[in-house]
Amino acid sequence: MIFLDNFTFVNPTKLIFGKGQLEQLKTEVPLYGKNVLLVYGGGSIKRNGLYDAVLEQLNAIGAKVSELSGVEPNPRLSTVHKGVNICKEEGIDFLLAVGGGSVIDCTKLIAAGAKYHGDAWDIVTKKVPAQDALPFGTVLTLAATGSEMNSGSVITNWETKEKYGWGSPAVFPKFSILDPVNTFTVPKDQTIYGIVDMMSHVFEHYFHLTENTEFQDRMCEGLLLTVMETAPKLLEDLENYDHRATILYCGTMALNGMLSMGYRGDWATHNIEHAVSAVYDIPHGGGLAILFPNWMKHNIKVKPERFQKLAVRVFGVDPNGKTAEEAGLEGIEKLSEFWNSIGAPSRLADYDIDDSQLEVMADKAVINGDFGNFTKLNKEDVMNIYRMSL
Ligand code: NZQ
Ligand code: ZN
Repeated sequence: MIFLDNFTFVNPTKLIFGKGQLEQLKTEVPLYGKNVLLVYGGGSIKRNGLYDAVLEQLNAIGAKVSELSGVEPNPRLSTVHKGVNICKEEGIDFLLAVGGGSVIDCTKLIAAGAKYHGDAWDIVTKKVPAQDALPFGTVLTLAATGSEMNSGSVITNWETKEKYGWGSPAVFPKFSILDPVNTFTVPKDQTIYGIVDMMSHVFEHYFHLTENTEFQDRMCEGLLLTVMETAPKLLEDLENYDHRATILYCGTMALNGMLSMGYRGDWATHNIEHAVSAVYDIPHGGGLAILFPNWMKHNIKVKPERFQKLAVRVFGVDPNGKTAEEAGLEGIEKLSEFWNSIGAPSRLADYDIDDSQLEVMADKAVINGDFGNFTKLNKEDVMNIYRMSL
């Protein structure tokens, strides 16, 4: 039995939440610099007016603003290189990421890469640790990854078809501004992917072997119940402030360290999904919706009581007369039903993915050897989960 680990908790990101909070840029940015690199994606912030509003704030403090636009969903190393070059050429002293997880993740690697003399990919592949980074803040526009309040980042090298996560305490955002209004224009499909992603972060936490995590379990369950209660209402009414706010807050709390004190979550499914989106460039949340129920079915025998607990407390399964495994499986079915009901994909075929690259993806997933903390997966396990997901 593994009892709760000793732990130290630090999260230095200042969270600024609510309507109209963009104004805080005027107070926050000057604390770090005046020569700003504004980083954003493919244009959603220009269409919804946020770009103009951000520039108004930056102009008001007399900031010199350079721009890096076009950060891709599943952000690419080539874009990071462009950003690092701008930082070095322009003597940038602060970066502002305005967008979703991809823009923020890209900004994190630019911030670290600007302080490193070699190729930023060395940081992603963990050849060198990111010991230092330029300071940066974020204006979040999509509830999903939690990147706005954590020190992780996921980058794709499209030339080699590799996608890896990396992290460093040096890349916690200095502040993140979360105004639910800035998420009103997130289209329905991206809203669904975000909901799946934040729920998956909770599942990655929930499946662990540590005992005595009663409060952590309740926080995880509370977050899942809240998201599942709110998601259908939000999807019917995408500009509802209260529902957007609830989902936004849940997304941040699902992956800012608050849920995981004293134990290590699993994180295998994220690794398995990253290998899929490295090859096929599919949305991260879409991939998780397909893979997570199958990871669960594949591993239910490792500790059926964990699956039973989730099934009973979150999915309302009646455990009477059932083994832990039977109740657990019923919970997994209910999860799939829920994700189907909100319009998430359920098969790799939904993205026209067939069995031709399964081995290529599995090799990428096990590049650093067997993985997962709840149980270790090898290449054959991964192949099996992919086959179950076709
Ligand atoms: O590029 P623009 O034009 O801005 O459009 C984006 C993009 O097409 C659009 N969008 C964002 N905010 C919008 C909006 N459209 C209209 N209105 C708005 N307000 O949504 C699309 C997807 O954006 P993206 O940033 O890619 O989505 P998400 O936040 O889900 O980020 C996904 C990336 O984060 C990684 C994933 O692997 C993926 O690369 N992850 C990062 C994590 C972390 N750093 O902690 C953890 C996660 O598990 C995840 O792996
Ligand atoms: Zn995720």
